[in-house]
Amino acid sequence: MMGAIRVVIAGGHPAGAVFSLAAGRYCERAVLARSDTIIVTMAFPIHRKRRLRVSESMRRFVRETHLEPSQFLLPLFICPGEGVRREIGSMPGNCQLSIDELVKECETVRSLGIGGVMLFGIPDHKDELASGAYAADGIVQRAVRAVKRAVPGLLVITDVCNCEYTSHGHCGKIVDGDVDNDATLAWLAESALSHACAGADIVAPSDMMDGRVAAIRKCLDEHGFHKVPIFSYAAKFASVFYGPFREAAESAPQFGDRRSYQMDPANAREAMHEMELDLEEGADMLMVKPAMPYLDLIRQAKDRFPVPIGAYQVSGEFSMIMAAARNGWLDLDRAMMESLTSIRRAGADIILTYFAKDAARALA
Ligand code: PBG
Repeated sequence: MMGAIRVVIAGGHPAGAVFSLAAGRYCERAVLARSDTIIVTMAFPIHRKRRLRVSESMRRFVRETHLEPSQFLLPLFICPGEGVRREIGSMPGNCQLSIDELVKECETVRSLGIGGVMLFGIPDHKDELASGAYAADGIVQRAVRAVKRAVPGLLVITDVCNCEYTSHGHCGKIVDGDVDNDATLAWLAESALSHACAGADIVAPSDMMDGRVAAIRKCLDEHGFHKVPIFSYAAKFASVFYGPFREAAESAPQFGDRRSYQMDPANAREAMHEMELDLEEGADMLMVKPAMPYLDLIRQAKDRFPVPIGAYQVSGEFSMIMAAARNGWLDLDRAMMESLTSIRRAGADIILTYFAKDAARALA
């Protein structure tokens, strides 16, 4: 049987309009003139998609998306004390680490070829002013110094936010029951500066205050840190998937929620505007967070903005996969790699993931 070219015109045309032409005649141009949306399918048996799936060597040869350990960032939680490795119940395999243990962990991370680490601090004391967030000898500042000294060459990125440091667990200064945007900017700029002074390679604000990138850029530049990049958590949603992290970082808000500053999960165009504004304010890299429920936004960001796009596979995404695997419902390694591949395929250049070490091992 001779094959035929079926040209299906969709969108704006009577449903199902089909043109059949003799095999071998290229007809795309003719059809384009009729519609802005076309689906060209050349019929079986000329085309057999399975030809390129026959073996692993063939599949590897035509694979479109690749994962590399250098594209991963491992989030780590630093706590006071010495010799502390306290496993986080809802995030199996992840621990709160004292600085000495953090240094060991970072040596492992470097040896696996992972791009870098994202540091979160858990201070021994929280207050209304988040003073631990910008203290020169705060937990993150000391951790950065220790890691940069002991593990040179590993990229150290710091999360810039206040929620781990405030007694109320919100990301900024509370005025009249709400986080005050402009008063919080000064804390954020101070925090970023203290991280840069400690040697952070990149600072990553995650608070979602308006104008924070500009405030941080200005403060860093005024203090001679014009070379320190800003990786902005630009499109960060008020997501239920941060639940396990808040146990890990002891940062759950004590009243209300974060919906007056983090984004509404329903909004995509607003996410693009957030990213555009952060770029204008001087962000060097942009992040979408969480990752898997927002793959469409990762793709849109990748197509629109000429900077590296990061995606954060957050604690809840990790814990869901982990929980299913522990129940024997999913194969852990395959779920891990498929989830990371989907995030890359959507367009992420960089993936923050609690699977960084296991995925790097799987790729070795
Ligand atoms: C701090 C911050 C959060 C996460 C990263 N930075 C929590 C939050 O906004 O409540 C979540 C990361 C994760 O769930 O893995 N603001």
